[in-house]
Formats: sequence, structure tokens, C-alpha cells
Amino acid sequence: MKVLFNAGEIAQKVKELGDEITAAYEGCNLYIIGILKGGFIFMSDLVRAIRMPVRIGFVRLSSYGNSDRPQGNVRILDDLEDAIQGRHVLIVDDIMDTGQSLLAFKKHLESKGPISVKICTMINKTQRRTVDMEPDYYGFRVPEGFIVGYGLDYAEDYRALPEICVIEPNNGREPA
Ligand code: IMP
Ligand code: MG
Repeated sequence: MKVLFNAGEIAQKVKELGDEITAAYEGCNLYIIGILKGGFIFMSDLVRAIRMPVRIGFVRLSSYGNSDRPQGNVRILDDLEDAIQGRHVLIVDDIMDTGQSLLAFKKHLESKGPISVKICTMINKTQRRTVDMEPDYYGFRVPEGFIVGYGLDYAEDYRALPEICVIEPNNGREPA
């Protein structure tokens, strides 16, 4: 396991993102949706770096992840309780990989009448993208590799690491 970004680098990046988002949404009615579980740490840091009043909600998604499923199929395990009609929505998640889950969730939200829906992820993992969509905001671009820490898990481990690390899963067994 190798550290890609330490806690100081992450904090600096979150501050930059917070400033950028604050400037972009000045005067707007912003509703921020965190994706559980992976987005929980990034979400809690990012909302405190956004210097304007916001409302927040959480959803839990489950990706099918099988290539035999229709593209972009995602299950919403816990949907939003709040209405987002007439609001600007920012989705916050840990990582965009293929992009299928976030594209499907974005379409789901767009059917509820928000003014806009944008996406912010901590990691933009680019090489396996299968959809024509990029995060509107992201912290770090990583071409490939399995990323853990700062909310990201490998089989539910490593979420609480303060650093962002890369591991190479060893035939689905314990990482080296
Ligand atoms: P998607 O392929 O962009 O739809 O990503 C689906 C989900 O796979 C993400 O929300 C993560 O939970 C998970 N995922 C994708 N790449 C990684 C990774 O490198 N580390 C940990 N989780 C990942
Ligand atoms: Mg996730």
C-alpha cells in the first residue's frame, strides 16, 4: 500500500475546492447530497470549506457493477427525504470510476425538478470511464489503481485512513 496524498495535501485540496464552489454558487440555494458510505469524510470536510449557507442530505447507492446489467443501473437504497425542486444540487462522492453510478443517480435527481445538478468527487479515476461524463469538480486525478482511505474502502476496510492510498488487490485476497 502506497500513500498517494497525505492529510495535509488533502486538506489543502479541500480548501481550494471549497473556495471554488463558494464562488460558483454565490447567492444560490445550494443543496449538497453526500453519497454513503464512501463520500462521508470528504462530504464532512467539504461542507465546512464552503463559506455559504447550504443544506445537506445523504443517500445510499448500490452499484450492480456487473457488465451484464444495463449500463448505468444503480439501486437507490436510501433516497432523499427533502425536495430538491428549485434548488441547485451538488452531489459529493469519493470517486468517479466508470461513472455509471453517478450518471444514473444524476439522471434520477434531474427528474425531480432541480435547477442544476453537478458532481464533485475527491478522486477522478479516468482510465475505466465508460460514460460521457466528467466530475464538475474533483480533488485529484488518478489514472488507475485501487484507491483506499479518506472514505474509500477495500471490502469495507481502510475507510478511516486519513491518507489516500493505492493498493493492488491480490487475486481478490488480502492486499499486499
Ligand atoms: P463507478 O464505476 O464510477 O460507477 O463507481 C462505483 C463505485 O465503485 C464507487 O462509488 C466506489 O464505491 C467504487 N470504486 C470504484 N473505484 C474504486 C477504488 O479505486 N477504490 C474504492 N472504491 C472504488
Ligand atoms: Mg461509492
